[in-house]
Amino acid sequence: MAAKNRPVVLTGDTPTGQLHLGHYFGSVKRRVEMQDSHECYFLLANMHAFTTRADKSEEIRNDCFDIVLDHLAMGIDPDRSSIFLQTEVPAISELTYLFAMLLPFNRVLRNPTLKDEIKVKGLGDNYSFGFPLYAVGQTADILAFRAHSVPVGEDQVPHLELTREVARRFNQMYCGVSDQAEDHEHVELGGVFPVPLADVGKIGRLVGTDGVNKMSKSLNNAILITDTPKQVRKKMGKLYTGRQSPTDPGDTDNALFHYVDVFIEDPDRIAELRDRYSRGDNIGDGEIKVEIAESISKLLEPMQERRRAYEGDRDRILAILKEGSEKAIASTEATLNAAKEAANLHFFDRTIRYS
Ligand code: TRP
Repeated sequence: MAAKNRPVVLTGDTPTGQLHLGHYFGSVKRRVEMQDSHECYFLLANMHAFTTRADKSEEIRNDCFDIVLDHLAMGIDPDRSSIFLQTEVPAISELTYLFAMLLPFNRVLRNPTLKDEIKVKGLGDNYSFGFPLYAVGQTADILAFRAHSVPVGEDQVPHLELTREVARRFNQMYCGVSDQAEDHEHVELGGVFPVPLADVGKIGRLVGTDGVNKMSKSLNNAILITDTPKQVRKKMGKLYTGRQSPTDPGDTDNALFHYVDVFIEDPDRIAELRDRYSRGDNIGDGEIKVEIAESISKLLEPMQERRRAYEGDRDRILAILKEGSEKAIASTEATLNAAKEAANLHFFDRTIRYS
């Protein structure tokens, strides 16, 4: 398909350090698969990281490099996709300011993802002004690219709802789109922004090696992309099922079989394991864990090889980010221009480029 006609996809991550298998199965795997069929933009939300860590700017900068490394390792191809820094794309900030005028403050604060974050991170009522603003910023991240769909986890759906509201409101206020128009008709009817869809992936949630919680680095139950076969075996070994003996009939509706389903590729082998486990046919948890660990390490091996090829070469990573950001600027400047024209804010043409 000609590059021009491919649907535009944008998604992003707040840089928080190294990625793990939960990220791979939750989102990155899909992104890798979309690279040929879609025009892909992957954003590093480094400004969003400042909402709660403004005092840790150096750490955030390092996290950006780590996350790019892991993305490249997992198969994001900089020749086909644009990986870029949020802070290098001026149109995003400019649209954030404009969109902030289209949203009642109370509407932003009603966003359940924000409320959750306030609770989970213990922010109380001491959060910065920029904290709720980031939700408006996220609508600009997406709309600046006129993205058609946004692959995200379930937790991001409220942000997409807000984004869809901004798109509709803008198109109605400044582009003469009727408030009766269907979402899919907005562009056809003269709207600057398509009303984008959240594209929530299927697996979404990988259970951690504690067998209970979602995989998460801070809960210490994550298998990192950089883990050696030995580390993987050790982590898998910790997965607790409560089963006593290889001859106990086991319930396959447990975390161990969640891993079997995700990581063992051969469906016949999965069926066999299920059958023998539930009959207690002399099959220990330990041997299944070893088999899963091997499968995981086989998946990680080419990732680690790619990671090593990029590691220690910050100049190469910077070049990838620069090129990605340049493409992001080209796309978003065109959008900003159209939005400014619609909102009677266009006075002069401009060109932005890096030296
Ligand atoms: N808020 C998202 C997260 O923490 C990251 C993000 C920022 C994002 N901008 C985005 C995701 C735009 C999708 C689209 O995971």
